[in-house]
Amino acid sequence: MSKPEILVTRPVFPDVLERLAQHFEVDANQNDRILTEEELAQRLHGKAGAFTTPTERVTARVIAANPHLKAVCNMAVGYNNIDVDAATRAGVIVTNTPDVLNETTADFAWALLLATARRVTEAEHILRAGKWDRWRFDTLLGADVHGSTLGIIGMGRIGQAIARRSTGFDMRVIYHNRSRLSQELEARANHARYVSRDELLCSADHVLLALPYSPESHHAIGAAELALMKRTATLVNIARGGIVDDAALIAALRAGRIAGAGLDVFENEPAFNPGFLDLSNVVLTPHIASASEPTRRAMANCAADNLIAALTGGNPPNILNPRIQSGK
Ligand code: DGY
Repeated sequence: MSKPEILVTRPVFPDVLERLAQHFEVDANQNDRILTEEELAQRLHGKAGAFTTPTERVTARVIAANPHLKAVCNMAVGYNNIDVDAATRAGVIVTNTPDVLNETTADFAWALLLATARRVTEAEHILRAGKWDRWRFDTLLGADVHGSTLGIIGMGRIGQAIARRSTGFDMRVIYHNRSRLSQELEARANHARYVSRDELLCSADHVLLALPYSPESHHAIGAAELALMKRTATLVNIARGGIVDDAALIAALRAGRIAGAGLDVFENEPAFNPGFLDLSNVVLTPHIASASEPTRRAMANCAADNLIAALTGGNPPNILNPRIQSGK
């Protein structure tokens, strides 16, 4: 019997491609050009599955153009690049890669938080530019992290992993989430206290965004929310671009309305609001919070596990639309 055909939309670890090739006829887009909606729709013709990454947009049009498609397996926990409702209506299984990246992403959130509060990249730029000529009592004064209040918006598994790490810094943790955690989970998350979003914005010294992107969370942090924050506060976004209104954030940083921001994700990335580049009080990284070697490997293997299960009659471990009626 011939193997089902799949598309791997971007380069991935060679051993993961080899694993996929044991089960499938693999069309691997290895030239690292991001496929447009049109190209993706065409390249999927006749294919049963797609191994995708956050850079591809699997829209209703792409799905409608490919009636043979049975599964789209995203190498990411976030899946706002896929129209899951359209996939469900068409009987296409959609999966993501939760859990395997929680701890690595939480580590990186801390890297950004510390770098932002203690002005690490700004300091390095000054030194590299030969502008450091002596010790001074007030050189690059930053904010303390230890003993401060950490406010986490989005208290899923990544948010909780971030909160757990705060015990070593003797911090108070407050959080806002769609629903309150159980007492047991709050206790494990450094006794995090559930508060309203506005109370969090008003009282946190460091505001950390770890919520998923959805139409409801679009511009959840804009001018009005930034105005509630302390002037000394930092904002860290390791979640998704579009949750923060980047233009409003640039205005707030420029005006010194908040002290600084650490950003791993941006609106319309990899396009980039150039306004950030003129600011010294922002730490910028290119969507790498989950980018440790073991974690990216685990994410790739998780997406492969899902695709293999979906197309060989198994139960994909991370199905996002479990009630799907796939009679395909
Ligand atoms: C995710 O898994 O959603 C990450 O943002 C990908 O790096």
